[in-house]
Amino acid sequence: MNTKLGFIGGGNMAASLIGGLVPNTITANNVMVFEPNADKAQELQQRFGIQIAQDNAQLVSECDAVVIAVKPQVLHTVLSPLAAVITKHCPLLISIVAGIRGNTIEQWLGQSLSLVRVMPNTPALVGAGISGLYANTHVTEAQKQLTETLLNSVGQSVWVNSESDIDSVTALSGSGPAYFMLFIKALSDAAEHAGLPPETAIQLASETARGAALLVQQSDQSLEQLIDNVTSPGGTTEKALKSMHANNLTKVLTEAFDAARQRSEELALELSQT
Ligand SMILES: NC(=O)c1ccc[n+]([C@@H]2O[C@H](COP(=O)([O-])OP(=O)(O)OC[C@H]3O[C@@H](n4cnc5c(N)ncnc54)[C@H](OP(=O)(O)O)[C@@H]3O)[C@@H](O)[C@H]2O)c1
Repeated sequence: MNTKLGFIGGGNMAASLIGGLVPNTITANNVMVFEPNADKAQELQQRFGIQIAQDNAQLVSECDAVVIAVKPQVLHTVLSPLAAVITKHCPLLISIVAGIRGNTIEQWLGQSLSLVRVMPNTPALVGAGISGLYANTHVTEAQKQLTETLLNSVGQSVWVNSESDIDSVTALSGSGPAYFMLFIKALSDAAEHAGLPPETAIQLASETARGAALLVQQSDQSLEQLIDNVTSPGGTTEKALKSMHANNLTKVLTEAFDAARQRSEELALELSQT
């Protein structure tokens, strides 16, 4: 990749993306970060050999694509002084900031931009993330390819057709790691209660979650069929599933998804007024 790639913010997500990209996909001297915390900036430079910008304006003026990786609450303050330099250099902006809509960013910068919104998730930290991507109408095919290369370096990615779908991505895969971790915790706690050592219980529960996910991804069979394959009549799985249905687990999960999606919409409104 010959593109010069910049990161505004050198926190957890930026570090995991840089770790996925350098050195195989992009050479270290084509990556630049601005991070106000000098210790963090130095650590990134030592770890990956990347360039550290003096400020965000220098980074925008030297990079073809800029990943915005700061917390939502500071985004307005971070972007406002960059309007002129962005107008002059027109980099592709790739925002991984949760909850802030593209038109809010355009409003803050006072211009139309090539902008991709990304909703990554925390398994990106171990190279197993999945990101939802939305490109506005100014983004070219080449810029979409570049964004995919970036996010696929820490997992997989899927494009969505409307920006409001990012709220669904947020409620499914953005928040989703916590849902599956809660499953792992509840099941391993139950097994621990029944006498298994905690580490054994967590290993059994988490590896079962990973194995089930791999089966879903690699099998041609439907989810219903795969569930059926584990469920013998009169057996243990049947008994457990009956108990889950009696407790309305599907309703619990549907309502949890809807609540998260609604909160994502509310946050976007709240954050557009910051
Ligand atoms: N972590 C996730 O799984 C995840 C998932 C989906 C979306 N996201 C989004 O990704 C973004 C980054 O998350 P994160 O977990 O990487 O956060 P983080 O670790 O807090 O990183 C943000 C970094 O931005 C720096 N920063 C603050 N002001 C800045 C400025 N003016 N210019 C440049 N950098 C500045 C912060 O420095 P200081 O520490 O000195 O303040 C910090 O190092 C967030 O918007 C979040 O919503 C994260």
